[in-house]
Amino acid sequence: MKQERYKLLKIKTFENTSPTAFDSSSNVSSVENALGWPHGTLAVLEQAFLQKLDRHTLWDLSNVSNTAPFEKAASVFLRGVRILGKDETARKVSPTPLVTSKAMSEIFDQEYFVVSDARVLDAWPFLKQHTDLALEVSELTKNLETVSRVLKGVKTRHPWLIIGGGITCDLTAFAASQVGVSFSLVPTTLLSMVDACIGGKTGVNVMPYGKNLVGSFAFPDQVYLLTDWLKTLPERDLRSGCGECFKHALLLGDLNLLETLAVNFAKKDFAKLGKHLPALIRLKEDIVARDPFEKGERVILNLGHTLAHALEAVSMTQQDQARDTIAHGEAVSIGLLFSLLASVAIGLWERKGFDRVHSYFQSAGCLLSKAQLQVFMNSPLGSDELFSKLLHHMSFDKKKQGHEDHAHFVLLKAPGQVHLHQGKFLTPLSPPLLRKVWGDLLNIMT
Ligand SMILES: NC(=O)c1ccc[n+]([C@@H]2O[C@H](COP(=O)([O-])OP(=O)(O)OC[C@H]3O[C@@H](n4cnc5c(N)ncnc54)[C@H](O)[C@@H]3O)[C@@H](O)[C@H]2O)c1
Ligand SMILES: [Zn+2]
Repeated sequence: MKQERYKLLKIKTFENTSPTAFDSSSNVSSVENALGWPHGTLAVLEQAFLQKLDRHTLWDLSNVSNTAPFEKAASVFLRGVRILGKDETARKVSPTPLVTSKAMSEIFDQEYFVVSDARVLDAWPFLKQHTDLALEVSELTKNLETVSRVLKGVKTRHPWLIIGGGITCDLTAFAASQVGVSFSLVPTTLLSMVDACIGGKTGVNVMPYGKNLVGSFAFPDQVYLLTDWLKTLPERDLRSGCGECFKHALLLGDLNLLETLAVNFAKKDFAKLGKHLPALIRLKEDIVARDPFEKGERVILNLGHTLAHALEAVSMTQQDQARDTIAHGEAVSIGLLFSLLASVAIGLWERKGFDRVHSYFQSAGCLLSKAQLQVFMNSPLGSDELFSKLLHHMSFDKKKQGHEDHAHFVLLKAPGQVHLHQGKFLTPLSPPLLRKVWGDLLNIMT
């Protein structure tokens, strides 16, 4: 039998609280109406974040009179948590049906409601005649309010075609899942081709709590994977895609592939990079096929993400007119090195193995410098203040399983071999150890 934590939490106290995190300028009930959510759902979600509930905690609604907002909130909180006494709802899984050779003109022959990333429209003007809704996306607007705006803009019941990077796809596919519409994806960034469009995870950020905290598992009808889009992708976004490509190569345990990817990134040889995409995608597809709803093994795809999500959360709360936010892939590259250094720090991995991997990250040119990272964090990197903010987000991260003050990490004992801690894929690490590893990381950054 699968081990699950049956910690029971009475959450009836949620009922009379009012939301504060959900953009105070927006009208909460208008967001709930657009999403078709019962009134009070956002208040329940807010309380769940404030109580730092995790995805293994069952919600006990036995003393709740109006269960509808709780049930809806439970269905999207951390992509779905279970309610005590209720069987798990059956969820549809389908392998990612990848189409790699179709021309866009053929794709548009089908009747779709087309949502496109506005920057992709600018770069590829032919899309304008096919697009029904254009979205200007950023991590700061990857939120429920934008989901509600998308839903208000939909005029048909046709399936949706979603064209854009990971933000557009995560957000719009989540919107589609909430109104029960099927959708297909056209990833236009390297990161979304190799990772975000595979595996059925959709969702949005909930600040100040963190990244991708509300969402669903919803699998696309088709993913049209056409590498031509990469021709117009800005260099920063190409480099950002490097992080997830390296993550997949590390999980595959193939350091030669890592080296080849690094060479191709350095030369900006995207034709050759494209040839390696199928192997990188297959790694994720195989893991997702074995564990679609992240009950176990799938969590290893979060390698590097405990720190990455914390860097992103701090960057988003520090953002101002003059400051952009760190890109997801930029944070992932740093997070990967942090996890590997943590593996070295607890004696799982030899330093020379780490040095080899680090050299590939350096030669690929996908690592931010300390000066760049400091701008995103808006604090001295070695300061206690920044570390305590990062720690706050890391220990709040969705992957936690016990040990309240510890943060949980996927660690490698060798390329391709995830360390198991008491039979689990996540290893708790203490704040003093994490402080040391953060110092080690800063020492190797240029
Ligand atoms: N669902 C998942 O399993 C999963 C996995 C990994 C990452 N993600 C999410 O993906 C997001 C990051 O995705 P991303 O890196 O694609 O970022 P993104 O969607 O912000 O795209 C990067 C930038 O490139 C622009 N753009 C996209 N395609 C373009 C093109 N062909 N030409 C010119 N400009 C183009 C976009 O407008 C944007 O400015 C994060 O929010 C992350 O959480 C999700
Ligand atoms: Zn990621």
